[in-house]
Amino acid sequence: MKTFTSAAELQQIIIKEKSNDKSVGYVATMGFLHEGHATLLENARKENDIVVLSIFVNPLQFGPNEDFETYPRDLERDENVAANAGVDYLFYPTVNEMYGEEPSVKVVVQSRTECLCGRQRPGHFDGVATVLTKFFNIILPDRAYFGKKDAQQVAVIDGLIQDFNFPIKLVAVDTVREEDGLAKSSRNVYLLDDERIEAKELYQSLLKAIEAINTGERNPNTITALVREHVEAHTNGKIDYIEVYQYPELKPIETLSGNIIIAMAVKFKHARLIDNITLTVE
Ligand code: PAJ
Repeated sequence: MKTFTSAAELQQIIIKEKSNDKSVGYVATMGFLHEGHATLLENARKENDIVVLSIFVNPLQFGPNEDFETYPRDLERDENVAANAGVDYLFYPTVNEMYGEEPSVKVVVQSRTECLCGRQRPGHFDGVATVLTKFFNIILPDRAYFGKKDAQQVAVIDGLIQDFNFPIKLVAVDTVREEDGLAKSSRNVYLLDDERIEAKELYQSLLKAIEAINTGERNPNTITALVREHVEAHTNGKIDYIEVYQYPELKPIETLSGNIIIAMAVKFKHARLIDNITLTVE
């Protein structure tokens, strides 16, 4: 594995690889790697000649009161995980390398952001789309792998790739969970001991929603009420949102049918957790 901090140097190597007909698989992360990230890398390793991983805590996607400064970082450990996962090129740029003194252009996302985390975190998805536009142009991937845990992010990237004509295949990978169902996340380390026990109830509440749908429930309000009731009864977390939409368009629905998402964000003392399920309703 070779580590790069220079965008120009990495881009040059990749252009050379591509001129030799090598396919490039790309996994974008903010580091503090866990099995969720490793699973994306595993998929990329299977399907491409070259695997590129970026680790960059992107200041543009953090709000003023969010955790940019304290976001967990551990490069040494990440390098081991990356090497074991068969990464060829690790890109680990500084903020200055990515944005220079004062960036002159940013990407603004026009749809799929009025709800869920987009509403709660203004500017967040503009930051994600801007950094990914840069990474896509530096890394020139044939395939890019993203986790369904961040389902709205996948929907936004799908729009970005289509609208900006990136010749990239977006691969969405299932959420990797702890044994008790909690979605793996770099932010889980922020949970206090009793919160970690409660946190499994987020997924339990989604399973309850699936059960209700399987037994015929088709009213989205009944589903969100049921999920809310479960989370409130079993955790001390503060619910940011529990919402149901069509997926990936993220349009409201009156009756559950077709591809839908049930998504939630719950705030604990030092961690805001998100989870969702997508499913097709007959
Ligand atoms: P980060 O939170 O580090 O996540 C990197 C990738 O790993 C994302 O595609 C995310 O959906 C995926 N991922 C995280 N937890 C997962 C899990 N439990 N199962 C499956 N996949 C999981 O998402 C970001 O970084 C950033 O917004 C980024 C795309 C890198 C842009 O800065």
